[in-house]
Amino acid sequence: MDMIRIFDTTLRDGEQSPGASMNLHQKLEIAKALERLGVDIIEAGFPVSSKIQFDAVYSIAEQVTTPYIAGLARCVQKDIDAAYESTKPSKKRMLHIFLATSAIHMQYKLKKTPDEVIKTIEESMIYSKKLFDHIEFSPEDGSRTEYDFLVKVVKTAIKHGATSINIPDTVGYALPFEFGELISKLIRDVPQFKDKSVYLSVHCHNDLGLANANAVSAVANGATQVEATINGIGERAGNTAIEEFVMTLNTRKDLVNKKTNIKTELLYPTSKLLTHLTGLVLARNKPIVGENAFMHESGIHQDGVIKHKQTYEIMNPSMIGRDSDTLVLGRHSGMHGFKKQLEKLGIVFKDQDQFDKAFQRFSELADRKKEVYDDDLLAILSDMIDRIPEGYIMEYHNVNSGNTIIPTATVRLKKGDEVYNSASTGDGPVDAIFKSIDEITGIQTKLKEYIVRGVSSGKDAQGEVQLSLDINGKNFNGRGSSTDVIEASAKAYLNAINKFYFVNKEGNGK
Ligand code: KIV
Ligand code: ZN
Repeated sequence: MDMIRIFDTTLRDGEQSPGASMNLHQKLEIAKALERLGVDIIEAGFPVSSKIQFDAVYSIAEQVTTPYIAGLARCVQKDIDAAYESTKPSKKRMLHIFLATSAIHMQYKLKKTPDEVIKTIEESMIYSKKLFDHIEFSPEDGSRTEYDFLVKVVKTAIKHGATSINIPDTVGYALPFEFGELISKLIRDVPQFKDKSVYLSVHCHNDLGLANANAVSAVANGATQVEATINGIGERAGNTAIEEFVMTLNTRKDLVNKKTNIKTELLYPTSKLLTHLTGLVLARNKPIVGENAFMHESGIHQDGVIKHKQTYEIMNPSMIGRDSDTLVLGRHSGMHGFKKQLEKLGIVFKDQDQFDKAFQRFSELADRKKEVYDDDLLAILSDMIDRIPEGYIMEYHNVNSGNTIIPTATVRLKKGDEVYNSASTGDGPVDAIFKSIDEITGIQTKLKEYIVRGVSSGKDAQGEVQLSLDINGKNFNGRGSSTDVIEASAKAYLNAINKFYFVNKEGNGK
């Protein structure tokens, strides 16, 4: 069976989509989870674009050793240099370099003739080859590039040392049969694709909801690598979702006889980790990892599933690690069970103090709540995963509200050794507690987004609040959870404010 190489771009194409930006610690956690998942290449970022991106690529290259670590670059020397410097710690580094090749991009965006584009590719490849052994070249907007010119571009990049060529459907325009045909024509016309000495990769966007279909069609027609992201995050409507692509191959081996190195049982935990770290909530009906993906609502379906699962289930949820949905920890679960469950979710605390602190939080929650689900664990530990220093900690809060009184909140915050008290009224209990916090911090905030949701099932479920604050024109996301939603709101608010302090101290605000 042919192997398909998985090039993960969650931390580059995925991270550049609105609402998905992550700090360095979050990116490292995701990179480690991707390594455990078994991706072959991690595109860790676009190093020239900012110091944050550069540092993230560098740290990932230092700490993640199994997959190739790639940095993105335009056909510009300073981009290639930044990719080189940032991936230096990795023994398996790679350059991903791109230039637009469709007529519309060359004319309006690049303002270059086709000959000038070829010359730029030649010069950049010659420069890059002095620094990198592994180079992927992408003709951006490849699916809309005039075919003969595309072949010329591909041959030029290969002649100057490209080890993989990636054909992007940049604007999600291609149809599956058309994209598959393009791939077979390229294999026919480029000898290095036919003899498989150069990888032929695809990178599909989901503007028409066809990203996975196009990737599957491409591999069915001979592509040897797929670029994809966890949960399909990415520019606009996103990219091919790894979980969809891998499970399509797995489920339809009868027709597409290819395999990947992905450990499918880690797909769901990895998806969950990303959702918690970014706060990007998935549609309930999202294939494979959405809340409803394995639920049977209609009576006829339920009856069928009870009689024989395969009547309505084409995949077994345990194959993607979804049995952990029902795996619960309780008050009597010991440290061992807790540790195992964390590992399954991809959370490893190397430092014993951190682990003890996490276990303490779990025990406190288990006292308040009978059953503790994976989502609960991710919710109570997310700030420890982010490793945002605690800054302000809420020591105490009291809120009075009702339909006949003015909502009033009292809070006590601690920062280092200092203790601050404040009381305020507001339009509602949440507003009152936010105002009390503002009085202490003195920071002007604008609440841009505020979402409350139940973390797991049951009346005693925790509430999780995700919010976004505008502070001095920059966005800071906060998250907090508790069995009391007012407390969860205050925690989320403080989490965003502590991020603001952290970023300002580090001098790397976005
Ligand atoms: O969609 C695209 O064309 C890209 C390239 C950088 C490969 O993301
Ligand atoms: Zn893309």
